[in-house]
Amino acid sequence: MCGIVGYVGDKECTPILIEGLRRLEYRGYDSAGVAVFDPSKEGMTISRVVRCRGKLANLENLLRDSKPTGRTGIGHTRWATHGRPSDENAHPHKSGLVSVVHNGIIENHQILRDGLKQKGRVFTSETDTEIIAHLVDEELKVDGKVTLREAVRRALKQVQGAYAIVVMADNMPDQIVAAKNASPLVLGLGDGENFIASDVPAILMHTRKVLFLEEGEIAEVRKTGIEVVDLDGKRVERAPKEITWSAVSAEKAGFKHFMLKEIHEQARAVTDTLRGRLSVEHNDAFLDGIELPDVATLKKITIIACGTSWHAALVGKFMIEQLARIPVEVDLASEYRYREPIITKGDLILAVSQSGETADTLAAIKEAKKQGAYTMCIANVVDSSIPRSCQASLYTHAGPEIGVASTKAFTTQLAALMLLAIHLGRRTKTLKDDRAKALIQEFLTIPHKMADIVGLAGQIQVIARRYGHARDFLFLGRGNNYPIALEGALKLKEISYIHAEGYASGEMKHGPIALIDEAMPVVVIAPKGPGYDKVMSNLQEVKARDGKIIAVCTRGDTDIGSLADECILIPETAPELQPLLTVVPLQLLSYYVADFKGTDVDQPRNLAKSVTVE
Ligand code: M6R
Repeated sequence: MCGIVGYVGDKECTPILIEGLRRLEYRGYDSAGVAVFDPSKEGMTISRVVRCRGKLANLENLLRDSKPTGRTGIGHTRWATHGRPSDENAHPHKSGLVSVVHNGIIENHQILRDGLKQKGRVFTSETDTEIIAHLVDEELKVDGKVTLREAVRRALKQVQGAYAIVVMADNMPDQIVAAKNASPLVLGLGDGENFIASDVPAILMHTRKVLFLEEGEIAEVRKTGIEVVDLDGKRVERAPKEITWSAVSAEKAGFKHFMLKEIHEQARAVTDTLRGRLSVEHNDAFLDGIELPDVATLKKITIIACGTSWHAALVGKFMIEQLARIPVEVDLASEYRYREPIITKGDLILAVSQSGETADTLAAIKEAKKQGAYTMCIANVVDSSIPRSCQASLYTHAGPEIGVASTKAFTTQLAALMLLAIHLGRRTKTLKDDRAKALIQEFLTIPHKMADIVGLAGQIQVIARRYGHARDFLFLGRGNNYPIALEGALKLKEISYIHAEGYASGEMKHGPIALIDEAMPVVVIAPKGPGYDKVMSNLQEVKARDGKIIAVCTRGDTDIGSLADECILIPETAPELQPLLTVVPLQLLSYYVADFKGTDVDQPRNLAKSVTVE
């Protein structure tokens, strides 16, 4: 994520940019900055960049004594992807004449950076964004007559990946140029002034008339008007829209809660986790250049995590053992260091954490490192304590998760674990060419299928209302869907306060079957694939005791309907990837039960987003 704002008009723009960034802080808050045109003494108008690490308040402190006073400017609040949070990596990035803010990930950044260095370009940050500033500046220098819009268009022709950018160039203070591919950008149309933002809340106090940029579009924004072209330079005409949301609901993009918004964001978030890391051509997954221990000597991997991240780790065990045939142990971080774990020098210990700050996970990883393990993490928050303590970090790029109940953080963790499993499987040579190809191709369809499942929200809301009065719920799953049963139960518990248990379906007969009667809803994860027949037998056992069955099953399954009271039909996928899909209906179910009960969905009682105490 990251938040972007831009302004062209007659008003002093720094306060407008800062207010816009405040409304976008939910998109990122590890650094912030502005670039504003300041008329200089020599008659040149140059942009003055002020930026720093930390929350917006730090930038405001910096600006307090010396605020740029221009009327055109851009601003940014960052959620780090390439390069840790620091003053140097904060946006805007400036090269020569050009200042840029960016939200997204440039996939071919390394090739472009090398090429620019050969031309003598000097880089001052670790970001992929700085490349765009250099590319546009090159275009302006090569052709002195080119417009800024055309220079941006030529630069973007060289770029692969996701971007929403806003660019300004010294001595062209009457305009800013915005462009979008895969990351959001909205233009706000004012009276003698115009605005740009990542999201509507940043401009809603100025105008309700907006134009959402589409993929591959470039907008030249002046105070007198806006002109939009496509990447081939062809004019685009589209009528603006009127926003009717309130400012509060705009922050949640019109959703009632952040949790629901984040459930809907999962297709985008998983796309960002995979971006530039999966190659059908090479049949491989790439991990941002992380150097893992040699698989020839790697005897065991231990994954440590808490809560939802621990459930992701349990799925990760299936993925890595199946594809790479390396034994994996999964430990609760809160237990790990107190049981005198056996750590051999060179073991790979992998921490999984959304926040990167969970005290138990941090303490466990420090202990493992002390004993000579190679430590790695899968984390969402860049440069948080856990990544800083590990030798290698693979980031999920889910963007800030605000709802306390983890949703998009979980599915992006699963995606990152699958990337790791494919990467290892290719190196142990246990994942053969054909299987790798098929799996990677299917993996790339997952975001689309997730979006499809989110489309079932209406049906799931009805089911939630029907069973939301129950006192207890049971969740059953087998194999890699057993951790999803645990996750489904945890989600329901934490936000609806209904008691719920997750069980491996085969274990039901060893105890929990005693609980089943007509008042007990049983959520069964039963997609087609290995273990399906066994799950069907478990369903018979529930049915025979009058339990109410809510089944998550594969579209086209005509057998399960005779047993289940409710069927949530999801698209088919490879068995290894099923957890990425089967969890989505369970997130929606717990959300709608909680909403039906009227609980505080985003901030459930007794819980905190980041558990920094033991
Ligand atoms: O930030 P982490 O992933 O390390 O957090 C771990 C757990 O505290 C977290 O997953 C918690 O269980 C969530 N509230 C679950 O929704």
